[in-house]
Amino acid sequence: MLVLGIESSCDETAAAVVRDGGEILSSIIASQIEMHRPWGGVVPELASREHLEKIDPIVRESLTKAGVELGDIDAVAVTQGPGLIGSLLVGVCYAKSLAYGLGKPLIGVNHIEGHVYSVAFENPPVTYPALALIVSGGHTNIFHVPEPGQYKVVSRTRDDAAGEAFDKVAKMLGLGYPGGPIIERLAQNGDPTKMKFSLAKISDGRPDLSFSGLKTAVAKYMRESCVSPQATDEDPRQDIMDLAASFQATVIRSLVGTLEKIAVELRPKTLIVAGGVACNLALREAAETTSAKLSIPVYFPSKHLSTDNAAMIAAAGYYHLSKGESVDLGMTADVTMRLQNLENEDAELKRKKVKYRL
Ligand code: KG4
Ligand code: ZN
Repeated sequence: MLVLGIESSCDETAAAVVRDGGEILSSIIASQIEMHRPWGGVVPELASREHLEKIDPIVRESLTKAGVELGDIDAVAVTQGPGLIGSLLVGVCYAKSLAYGLGKPLIGVNHIEGHVYSVAFENPPVTYPALALIVSGGHTNIFHVPEPGQYKVVSRTRDDAAGEAFDKVAKMLGLGYPGGPIIERLAQNGDPTKMKFSLAKISDGRPDLSFSGLKTAVAKYMRESCVSPQATDEDPRQDIMDLAASFQATVIRSLVGTLEKIAVELRPKTLIVAGGVACNLALREAAETTSAKLSIPVYFPSKHLSTDNAAMIAAAGYYHLSKGESVDLGMTADVTMRLQNLENEDAELKRKKVKYRL
């Protein structure tokens, strides 16, 4: 069965053709990073206009690369949310017209579920229950997945997503955008023990995460120790590389420490670490150490499947299709679409006061 996946939730226009949810025939990604770089972040209006320009040629390219015609496609899967409204609408409207024109089923996929399915291509099949750390520029959650399609949030960030923290700290250090890969590169020559940043402590004791205090701690350190930002990310100074390494180590300690704590309690059969920040090799190494310690295998997507792509959307779409699930043409973009579908006593938990020990 061939599923055409379409992703346009943020700043990547992507299309992919996937066979039976596990074989990528094509995966085309048009990144807008260069366009947004001068602004130091994604400009929503520019993003949606660019998606409009790119969506048709990208879908056509994905079909050509896969060696298939539109008529060969069995279903269309598109990211329904969460994401930027203007960006999401481009993909959703395009996918609806295509599904209608072809008379084929349409599946509205949750972008975060897409990241969970990004491990479907290069790893053995996931054994359930699984524990999935999805860590990207917009999201940071740990999901308990007792069986396919069942999600319970067991940890989430109370403020910034981890990738967002990488991007903001990079900006403070005078580095480019997106910050994650630059911080990782600089951290390789920095001393991660040089600056001691504490992990946020959540006052209600839940295993949640918080990164905005860490960002403030980096700013405070720069101010008090008179560390000026770099003029460019070329030829970085030692103090900037030490800060990058210390910041990165703290984020990883927080993410993997929390994953490990929850894994000890829930004893899943598989750990999944996915999303843009999962490109980070130091994060992967830390997760692998935890995996070895607990004797629970950890699955990652390869780098090009860690950041936003449409193959993962097609894979998640295939799963829903195989359960006989599809949506009608009344479906629309859902900016705040949630993935959790299992009851959790935390579900209604509002933003609580976070205590920091800095
Ligand atoms: O999954 P993604 O492509 O988009 C969202 O759904 O948000 O993730 C993008 C995020 C950015 O914040 C970027 O800085 C971060 O992933 N990122 C990294 C690395 N590569 C990308 N963070 C840390 N280390 C990396 N190597
Ligand atoms: Zn994403």
